[in-house]
Amino acid sequence: MKILTILGTRPQFVKAAAVSRAFAKHPSIEEIIVHTGQHYDDPMSAVFFKEMEIPAPQYNLDVNKLGHGAMTGQMMEGIEKILVEARPDYVLVFGDSNTTLAGALAGKKMHYPVIHVEAGLRSFNMKMPEEINRVLTDRISDMLFCPTAIAVANLRQEGMDKFPVDIIQNGDVMYDAALHYANFSAERSGIMDKIGRDEFILCTMHRQENTDDAKRLQSIVSTINEIDRQIRVVLPLHPRTKKMLEHHGLALTVTAIDPVGYFDMIELLKHCRLVMTDSGGLQKEAFLFKKFCVTLRDETEWVELVDHGFNRLAGADSQAIRAAYQDFLNREADFNVGLFGNGDASDIIAAKLLEKGGR
Ligand code: UD1
Repeated sequence: MKILTILGTRPQFVKAAAVSRAFAKHPSIEEIIVHTGQHYDDPMSAVFFKEMEIPAPQYNLDVNKLGHGAMTGQMMEGIEKILVEARPDYVLVFGDSNTTLAGALAGKKMHYPVIHVEAGLRSFNMKMPEEINRVLTDRISDMLFCPTAIAVANLRQEGMDKFPVDIIQNGDVMYDAALHYANFSAERSGIMDKIGRDEFILCTMHRQENTDDAKRLQSIVSTINEIDRQIRVVLPLHPRTKKMLEHHGLALTVTAIDPVGYFDMIELLKHCRLVMTDSGGLQKEAFLFKKFCVTLRDETEWVELVDHGFNRLAGADSQAIRAAYQDFLNREADFNVGLFGNGDASDIIAAKLLEKGGR
């Protein structure tokens, strides 16, 4: 069985690491990896392939530094050509990026069955490019692997169960990755020696709604600069955020570092006091490493974390961020709640595909 996996952004490399490992256990599965090139800097891409031992992509489209339309279109053009050559049984896409949508559209239009891993997530904010990508990808996919019960319910709510598609709650493949790589991160990462052992808050931000809106960005920057005077804030800086800070003439006084690899990120998660982020993946990883999370967004796809009190939505509002931060500093919780499956989400995908068979 031939599976064409399409990836291109940092969180997709993490998901692919888990899923490719599961595929590799089955000699009857042949996986062909296409890197769209959306993320291309070494610290945003190559380091993940190396550290996480993701099979090298057979194809790299090198499509990046473009607006949404040109990016998605050029990716589709490249993927179509590869499909003609590779003729896979399935096209597999992850998550919610432009890479996801381009892969799903190209595959579907050429009548290949499309598998969407991390289906059914919704922020219900149709202004987010990621939400548009998710909704459209789910609608045209044939197999929808959902990380949570809420994701399944979202798809039913949209009537997806009326179509001839498979909706499977398999758990979260990022959980599989976190469990596996946490065993090696301490020996493979030098980040704690680099940043020192003093208490710190781990912060990341890169969402377009925060970085491209000068007011929101200014508010977040001034708030974390202020919090940093109490507890040091360590912020691996995404290239988008770096560019937009320069563009808006804003200065961070926190400990800003270059983007980190996966092992470093796990060590930062293990050692931090709490997490502040607008990333989807990091909200979950905070929970997996038993840390509270202040989410720098107005909504989240991972509502179960908010419902259980592990996560608070603070948006870009200075007061709300400070209130959530203060509250979490003084709080304890039992994080032993199984929200994201059993760590075998990737194996379930492999088993389902084998059960279904090729075309
Ligand atoms: C993208 C995804 C988002 C995902 C995120 C993870 C979309 C719409 N968004 O957002 O869902 O959560 O990736 O990081 O697909 N850049 C570099 N070097 C790199 C990568 C990007 O300099 O290695 C620059 C780009 O040229 C661009 C900016 O950073 O100017 C943003 O990159 P882009 O891929 O458009 O979006 P992300 O914010 O990374």
